[in-house]
Amino acid sequence: MVVVGGGVIGLSAAWKLADRGVSVTLVDDRPGEAASWAAAGMLAPVTEVHYGEEPLLALARTSADLYPQFVDDLERASGLPAGYSRSGTLAVALDADENAVLKELHLFQLRLGLEVERMKSAACRDLEPGLSSSVRGGILVPGDHQIDNRLLLAALRAACEHGGVHFVNDRVAELNGREAVEEAVTEDGVRIRCRTVVLAAGCWSGSLKGVPEQALPPVRPVKGQILQVRPLHPVPPLEHSIRGTDAYLVPRGDGRVVVGATVEELGFDTRVTAGAVYELLRAARRMVPSVDDMELIETSCGLRPGSPDNAPMIGPSAHDGLVIATGHYRNGILLAPVTADALSAFICDGELPENVAPFTPQRFSRRPR
Ligand code: GLY
Repeated sequence: MVVVGGGVIGLSAAWKLADRGVSVTLVDDRPGEAASWAAAGMLAPVTEVHYGEEPLLALARTSADLYPQFVDDLERASGLPAGYSRSGTLAVALDADENAVLKELHLFQLRLGLEVERMKSAACRDLEPGLSSSVRGGILVPGDHQIDNRLLLAALRAACEHGGVHFVNDRVAELNGREAVEEAVTEDGVRIRCRTVVLAAGCWSGSLKGVPEQALPPVRPVKGQILQVRPLHPVPPLEHSIRGTDAYLVPRGDGRVVVGATVEELGFDTRVTAGAVYELLRAARRMVPSVDDMELIETSCGLRPGSPDNAPMIGPSAHDGLVIATGHYRNGILLAPVTADALSAFICDGELPENVAPFTPQRFSRRPR
């Protein structure tokens, strides 16, 4: 079988399928270098929850619960660290309005039975001495963890290689087969016979030739610009990911801090803009003033695969043999374990697990495109 796309979803699926004995060819001209590379690695089902997205929350919590085992297995299979950290997340408010929003959010989270703790201003700063004295309050979410997405990608790539996944550095341009998938053809003209294709090409998944229109996932690019800073002088290190209204900060174990991210509907534009860098740094230093004296070591940009309802599409399509795994939007890293398990259950056992039933691509097939 062929996996189209070597981001976190394609690599996780390829690894799990190869582990089940499936012969897998993964096609990507730059595996691990697109949205998964630019991510922050937040495993944050609770702090990413939005009103009305309760089904997605359930899927995200399932995947977060799978993470420790996923990482253990991955580190064993790859021989590499995956960079998983159980440091929690602290959402903070910087003025009375933001604090009122957090109060409402906290009530919503409690109604959903989530493990969250409302924190007063002083308690926030006791927990994180680097926070600004303007912090008015917060919500501590101990179960929202993080993973270094770049270590994760390297470990997945190594686990795939050890598991016998064949990598083709190219792009799939077209699928052949009238009634069902028979062959994948790359841009360089390489032909790969296959009866199953997993389409995990992120925001590029909506335009594969040779596939009936109604079988393609309705996915679009959502631009995210993201930065990394590093202290030049000793400062209190952040122990938690910090989430504000306009930005978040995710500390890495080596002192680097990831600052993200914009959410922009600008098509396939991946240019980093001065305005975005300015706004992200402004928001970050309002929360953590020592950002001012940090070195800006990286600016980057990824294109999240957005779907019409912000939830992923996982499962069979309207074209026989074409299986979809995209649309993970802001949660690709988090949803990798549950997606990979669902794909391997579907492809190896013929059964899509209950927990992904609300997220099949067919939910969009009756809508006009
Ligand atoms: N999950 C964080 C982001 O998409 O920016």
